[in-house]
Amino acid sequence: MAYRHIDLETISNDHVRDNSNSVLPTPVPTDVVFGEATPDQRLQCYKLAAAAFGSHLSEADFVDRETFLNDQPLTRNGGCRVWCLYRANAPSTVLSTCRTIRRAILLKDSHGIREEIGYCIVSVVTSTEHRGQGLASLLLHHVAQWLDGPGQAAVSMLYSNREEFYAKNGWVAMPAAEISITGKSSIQHNHDSRIESALEALGDGDITQLCARDVQSLRSHIETVAIAQGDILATILPTAELISLQHARADFVGLKLNGTTPQRKGVRYASKAWLYWHHDFRKQCLYIQRLRTYVKNKSIRIKIIVALFLQACQEAERWGLPRVVTWDLSSDVCEAAKLLGSGSNEGITTREARRKETMSLRWTGGVQLKSAAIAPNEAYAWN
Ligand SMILES: CC(C)(COP(=O)(O)OP(=O)(O)OC[C@H]1O[C@@H](n2cnc3c(N)ncnc32)[C@H](O)[C@@H]1OP(=O)(O)O)[C@@H](O)C(=O)NCCC(=O)NCCS
Repeated sequence: MAYRHIDLETISNDHVRDNSNSVLPTPVPTDVVFGEATPDQRLQCYKLAAAAFGSHLSEADFVDRETFLNDQPLTRNGGCRVWCLYRANAPSTVLSTCRTIRRAILLKDSHGIREEIGYCIVSVVTSTEHRGQGLASLLLHHVAQWLDGPGQAAVSMLYSNREEFYAKNGWVAMPAAEISITGKSSIQHNHDSRIESALEALGDGDITQLCARDVQSLRSHIETVAIAQGDILATILPTAELISLQHARADFVGLKLNGTTPQRKGVRYASKAWLYWHHDFRKQCLYIQRLRTYVKNKSIRIKIIVALFLQACQEAERWGLPRVVTWDLSSDVCEAAKLLGSGSNEGITTREARRKETMSLRWTGGVQLKSAAIAPNEAYAWN
């Protein structure tokens, strides 16, 4: 069901603070209306996003990409909503837009564990001629009201390098690091042939089953985590729908840019370990979405992770992507990265650095939770 449009003429031009904890700048244009985009407005929203983020595609292809991505298992039937601000007397003139994409969250506090709704806010754009007038702030203010109301969000997040802007609007930055792997894997030696022979590429058909196993074991793990009074642990569930949305994007863009779609979505080591990746042709990088291992012996586990990462390097090379990036900084991954970048893997460099796109979080009602954590905080949850 479409969200009702709100005429903003009733909003005062003074700074406004409300229970969403955001501050509206002043002066806000008064002939502006907020609402969920109509089909015609969606097209305008996609064109605004194309101008801001679509330099790798033509405007028509970017619009087709957005239409395609909004009709995936995660995004259809209200999973993705397109929001906009538009002129009251010219509804097809969209001034500012963003989208919300729903995802399943597992939340644990001292009362127990429960499933909640979360959202990722993506493609925040204001038309160039209207920037700096408070429109994106106003848009986010109304999106926050929707999240707290009909959206029933426990938490919402966005990924950006504009942490201060989003912090002013109620989304608090959680800076984190990434490991990037560069270099040619084809010159590698010292491969463990027993591990090599058990490696197998993952395709679309493998994702549902592996994600189900991952989600199930994450749940079991979270049940065992001790939570102190007042603490919250939130997990963005790595469901097949979430993982596959990134694959759908890579498929679409790969087809447009290279005339073919990536068939390999990851690699597994028998049924004991796997990782999925997605090809980001805009950022020129292969992202490790998620790594799972079920191997007890630590030194074997690390060797397997190294072998999986080398497969990712080869996939990146196949597609001309200069970097493999992981947002997983677990001790296993750090050790594997160290081994990868060591002398036995001449030509490979691994580097830990601050992520360029920080996750910013807003809890329901805009309340500040000092002892809340999102874990895992990995690339599969980026939209
Ligand atoms: C980022 C973006 C969406 C901001 O849109 P906007 O409508 O200009 O945003 P606002 O006007 O609400 O706020 C922008 C700045 O203007 C300031 N501002 C707000 N109202 C103002 C006003 N009336 N007069 C002067 N400045 C104002 C804000 O404080 C903010 O300052 P900051 O950048 O120092 O934080 C816009 O620059 C854009 O579309 N960029 C390209 C796409 C992009 O990068 N999106 C973000 C990706 S996550």
